[in-house]
Amino acid sequence: MKRRDFIWSSALAGLALSTTPMQMFGASTDKKAKIGFIGVGGRGRSHLRNLLLRKDVEIPAICDIDPEAINESLAMIAKQGFPKPEVYSGSELAWQKMVERDDLEGVIISTPWLWHTPMAVGTMKAGKYVGLEVSAAITLEECWDLVNTYEATKVPVMILENVCYRRDVMAVLQMVRENLFGELIHFRCGYQHDLRGVKFSPGVTFGEGAEGEARWRTQHSITQNGDVYPTHGLGPIATYCNINRGNRFVSLTSTATKARGLHEYIINHKDGGINHPNANIEWKLGDVITTTITTAMGESIIVTHDCNLPRPYSLGFRVQGTKGITEFDMHTRRVYVEGKSPMHEWEDFKAYGEKYDHPLWRKYSQTSEGAGHGGMDFYVDHAFVEIVKRKLEAPLDAYDAAAWSSITPLSEMSIAEGGEPVAVPDFTRGQWMLRKPVFALNDDF
Ligand SMILES: NC(=O)c1ccc[n+]([C@@H]2O[C@H](COP(=O)([O-])OP(=O)(O)OC[C@H]3O[C@@H](n4cnc5c(N)ncnc54)[C@H](O)[C@@H]3O)[C@@H](O)[C@H]2O)c1
Repeated sequence: MKRRDFIWSSALAGLALSTTPMQMFGASTDKKAKIGFIGVGGRGRSHLRNLLLRKDVEIPAICDIDPEAINESLAMIAKQGFPKPEVYSGSELAWQKMVERDDLEGVIISTPWLWHTPMAVGTMKAGKYVGLEVSAAITLEECWDLVNTYEATKVPVMILENVCYRRDVMAVLQMVRENLFGELIHFRCGYQHDLRGVKFSPGVTFGEGAEGEARWRTQHSITQNGDVYPTHGLGPIATYCNINRGNRFVSLTSTATKARGLHEYIINHKDGGINHPNANIEWKLGDVITTTITTAMGESIIVTHDCNLPRPYSLGFRVQGTKGITEFDMHTRRVYVEGKSPMHEWEDFKAYGEKYDHPLWRKYSQTSEGAGHGGMDFYVDHAFVEIVKRKLEAPLDAYDAAAWSSITPLSEMSIAEGGEPVAVPDFTRGQWMLRKPVFALNDDF
């Protein structure tokens, strides 16, 4: 495979963590971002790995309740020659002590969803920048907590939505900004990812004693029926149609299918079977959740959550305007632009991807090679480090975190009401009309 082909296909594959070693990044500088971590499980350690490759970062402290996660992190930190950080552990509230430290400027939070908002709010109140994993919140009250705390403290929270930085996704951002698709009309996106092997591990176990995300993620499929993970698809679309910055989500309707996938998985698994205790569980989360959002500028966005059935990964992406359209799946990316493409025929995305490659990717594609998810994780971590270092506002901020994450509780409400339309709150309280786009305007961060 040629190098460029490789770069595009690995950006698309998007999910497997690459093992290619990255080069140390950045000039040695007096100004360093002092960043701590709450949660150093799978995701926290991938952020840690990226930050350990930078010369402009110090890591004074880390926190996790799992001694194994702490030990693995300490080994990574020592291997990279960084001083040993202070460890906060032993209690689910140990993070509260950590965020009070005077030598911390920012904190990356990569814990289970239930902890995201309480930890982000506590960290902002302690005056430290927050880099918050997705989704940022799971109830409407939490969405407002993020906004209200930001407005009260003026401490930025950045939602770490890495898919906004995927190479092909950013190329489409450039195409949108250069008006290739004309006036935007309709979008499709989603999280379509077979997570059965993540929700159950090992075998068909989950909850206490299980491994990785099976310890906590699976429980949400018992208690919630809605789009529990909307931001990977919705984040990129929101940057295209300027949500909270000239546009906003207005309302949504949501429907859920029946729930069969997880039960089937348990009864057909070699470690499960119809007599396994988990075969009796009543799963609440419909296998396919379809949400249609309307925007103030008259677009519609169909968001799909599809994680319990056998399928290859796909964002199920579509951007459509008055002049053209692009669609992505796992191995197919295609474009049609009226007047440029042959009549009624798709063109391959590759030439467009190269022409509209985002300035950030042009600048950092070599540096980011080997960072997680086809390189895109470099960019989201880079943005967070830069705003902490330079004391800037977040390019994906509290209002974005709230609006994108609110799709979870609002879709639950709509589904519970048989698909009734539900209003999306204006988390900016009218400021969306005045706020200007700031995301990835150049090659800075
Ligand atoms: N953006 C992405 O591509 C991406 C990928 C994977 C996960 N995630 C998100 O990252 C977050 C973490 O996921 P993960 O895969 O690392 O899960 P994980 O289970 O591997 O790690 C979570 C860690 O949080 C720790 N933890 C739990 N409660 C804690 C507490 N009270 N105090 C301190 N530590 C605590 C756990 O011990 C564990 O080490 C989730 O929100 C997930 O959705 C995002």
